[in-house]
Amino acid sequence: MNIKDLYIEFFKSKGHTQIPSAPVVPENDPSVLFNTAGMQPLIPYLMGQPHPLGTRLCDYQKCIRTNDLDEIGDTFHHTFFEMLGNWSLGDYFKKEAITWSFEFLTDVLKIPVNKLAVTVFKGNDIIPRDTEAIDLWKSLGISEEHIALTEDDNFWIAGEVGPCGSDTEMFYWRSEEDVPNVFDPSDERWVEIWNDVFMMYEKHSDGTVSELPKKNVDTGMGVERVTAVLEGVLDNYQTSIWKDVIEKIEELSHKTYNGNEKSMRIIADHIRTSIFIAADSSGIKPSNTDQGYILRRLIRRAIRHASMLGIDINSDWERKLALIIISKYQKYYKELIDNKDVVLDVLTLEKVKFNRTLSKGLKEFEKVAHKDIDDKTAFKLYDTYGFPIELTVELANERNINVDIEGFYRCFKEHQEKSRAGSNQKFKGGLAGNSEIETKYHTATHLLNAALKVVVGPDVHQKGSNINTDRMRFDFSCDHKLTDEEKDRVETLVNDWIKQGLEVTKETMPKSDAIKSGAECMFIEKYPDIVTVYSIGDVSKELCGGPHVKNTNVLGKFKIKKEEASSAGVRRIKAILTD
Ligand code: SER
Repeated sequence: MNIKDLYIEFFKSKGHTQIPSAPVVPENDPSVLFNTAGMQPLIPYLMGQPHPLGTRLCDYQKCIRTNDLDEIGDTFHHTFFEMLGNWSLGDYFKKEAITWSFEFLTDVLKIPVNKLAVTVFKGNDIIPRDTEAIDLWKSLGISEEHIALTEDDNFWIAGEVGPCGSDTEMFYWRSEEDVPNVFDPSDERWVEIWNDVFMMYEKHSDGTVSELPKKNVDTGMGVERVTAVLEGVLDNYQTSIWKDVIEKIEELSHKTYNGNEKSMRIIADHIRTSIFIAADSSGIKPSNTDQGYILRRLIRRAIRHASMLGIDINSDWERKLALIIISKYQKYYKELIDNKDVVLDVLTLEKVKFNRTLSKGLKEFEKVAHKDIDDKTAFKLYDTYGFPIELTVELANERNINVDIEGFYRCFKEHQEKSRAGSNQKFKGGLAGNSEIETKYHTATHLLNAALKVVVGPDVHQKGSNINTDRMRFDFSCDHKLTDEEKDRVETLVNDWIKQGLEVTKETMPKSDAIKSGAECMFIEKYPDIVTVYSIGDVSKELCGGPHVKNTNVLGKFKIKKEEASSAGVRRIKAILTD
C-alpha cells in the first residue's frame, strides 16, 4: 500500500478528517509564489479561525520549492514534493501527537525502535526546555541516549513572522552499520523523517512572540524521503516513485542511469513539477514573470538536459514521460485527469517554441564561451534565443566562466523602458492621459502603505495592489476592520505628505542591499538581483518597478472610498485621487 494511503488511514482511525491538497499556487497568500509546506494553506486556522472540517485534520499536500533549483541533480533535492501532515487545531497536544507519531512509525511502517532517534527543544531565555516531550519519548521506549537537545533546529516557523513553536524531530538510522548507542544529529547516516511542531506562538515583525489563542499541533513528513528510507535506498531517484520514469529516460536516450544521473534527475524532477504547475487550478502558463517564469525555466532546462543526453528533442519524449507521471499520481490528484490535455499541450508548445531557437542559441554561446559572457551577449541569448538567464549561468558554470548578471538586468530594464515608451507612443492621445493618472496612483499607493504603518502599526504589509484609471485598490495585512478614526488619520497623513511636496527619488541597487536598507517589498523572490528602490521624502522606501511622479505635490487630494475584508487577516482599501 502507498505511504499516503497508510498515513491517511491511520490518522482517520485517530479521529482526523482528511482535507484535500490545496493548489500549488496559494489562493489567498500573494506573499509566496508556491505552497512550500503542508501547513501553509492552514495558517488562518492555526491563527485561530475555525476550520469547517473540525479540529483534527490530515492530508498530503503538494509543495513546490524553487529556491534551491540549482541543487536538483543530487540524490535528494526535488522542486516538487508531497508532505504528509496531521493537525490539531486547539484539540490534542503533545501527548497524542508524539504517541501517534511513534505508533505510526513502529506499528504501521514497522521501523524497529532502536533505529529511531529524536531531537527535542533545548530551551532558551523565552521558551523553556520541552521536558514533557522528553518524558513522552522515554515512556514510549526511546532511550535517553537517542534523545538529543537542540535549540535552533527545534524551533519551527514558515518564514520570518507568523505561527510557530518548538518541535521534536524524528530520525531514522539509514545505514548497514550498527546503530550507535548515542544519537548524533549531525551524523548524516541519521536521516530526519518527521517533524511534530507544537505551534502555540505567533512571531511578530518586531521580534516579539505572543501566545496564539489555541495550542495547535502541525506535523510534516516528506513522502520522497520516507519512501527512500523504507525502500532502503540512498538515492531518492531510485525509489519506486521514480523507477519507471528513469527507465523511460534511459530508453529514450539509449543511455544508462549510472554515469548520467544528474541530467536524468533534472529531467524527471522538472517534468514532474511542470505537470503539477500546469495542472493547477490557477491556470499558469509559461511566461516571463512569476510562476509562469518558473514553469518556463523548468521546461527549458529539462529540454536542454534531454538534448545533452542525446534524446531526440523534436520527438514526443516529453509526453511519454508526462503520461507515466500523470498515471502514477492521478488517483490522488483529480486535476491531473481533468487537465491532462492542458498539461500535455503546455509541455509540447513550450518545447516547440524553445526547440526553434535552442540549437542556434547554443551555437551562439559556443562562439563566445572562450571568455566571460558580457551583458549584451547574455541579453541576446535571452531576447533572441529564449535562454533564461539562469540557463546561461548554468552553461557558463559548466565552462568555468562568468556571466555579467548585473549587466544583463541592466539591459533587461533598458529594453523594458524602451518598449514601454514605445507603447505609450503608439497610444498617444488615447492612453497618454490615463497613464499619467495611473502613475499618480502608483505613488499614492506607496504613501498609503506608509500611512497605514504609522496609524495601524509596523506589522501592516502590502498583500496586493491593483490600479486602473478610476481608482487604486490596496490589500494589506491587518487583523481588524479599520475604525473611522483610523481611516481619517490615514487620509489626513497621506494628504499632509502630498501637500508637503515630497520629492520622489529612484535608485538602482543589488537586491540584498535594498533589503538591508529596510526597503519595503512584497514578493522578495519575484525581484531580479538588481532592483529599483523608490523613496518618497523620508516617509517611504519601497522596491518597485515604477513608474512614479517626481513630486507628491501633483497628486491632488486623496480620499478613501471603501474599507472592507479581502480574505482572512487581509483588509482592502479602495481610494481615489481628485483635483
Ligand atoms: N511545518 C513543519 C514542517 O514543514 C511541520 O509540518 O516541517
